Amino acid sequence: MLRIVFVCLGNICRSPTAEAVFRHKASKAGLHLHIDSAGTAGYHVGAKPDKRSMAVAREQGYDFNGISCRKVSDADFVECDLILAMDNANLDSLRKRCPEEHQQKVQLMMSYADTEFSEVPDPYYGGQKGFSLVLDLIEQASDGLVTHCQALTKLNKVKV
Ligand code: 4NP
Repeated sequence: MLRIVFVCLGNICRSPTAEAVFRHKASKAGLHLHIDSAGTAGYHVGAKPDKRSMAVAREQGYDFNGISCRKVSDADFVECDLILAMDNANLDSLRKRCPEEHQQKVQLMMSYADTEFSEVPDPYYGGQKGFSLVLDLIEQASDGLVTHCQALTKLNKVKV
């Protein structure tokens, strides 16, 4: 089964939103994937996602059940097929930790969307608008990622 992990700094705003949104969209598309999220920092390990992130996403029907904060582990680089960073700072820290043979797994989430945004901006210290933008960007990238996973499945490159 294809394994995807979404990564941001705190694993309480952007990457749990990506986990919830992509899980919803992948399931609707009939894809059976292992979907997870993690943070490059450990400030909030064990915490539930940020209430502001959950509020905007729940309005659109996304579900955060079972999601709690964890740090990226060394095993993620080996076990996951795609490690998708929300921004360049997290991409850099993942690339520094990732063994050479797994470097191609580490990519920007927004590389799957066709928009002028190349990163999902950190909403933590901002207002409501930032959380809505995060959701919008993650929905766009998740649509592109679903298409990518469907193509992989058709090519039979991975067992889903
Ligand atoms: P995230 O947002 O990386 O999208 O989860 C943040 C969450 C917490 C902090 C920074 C960003 N923090 O500094 O605690």
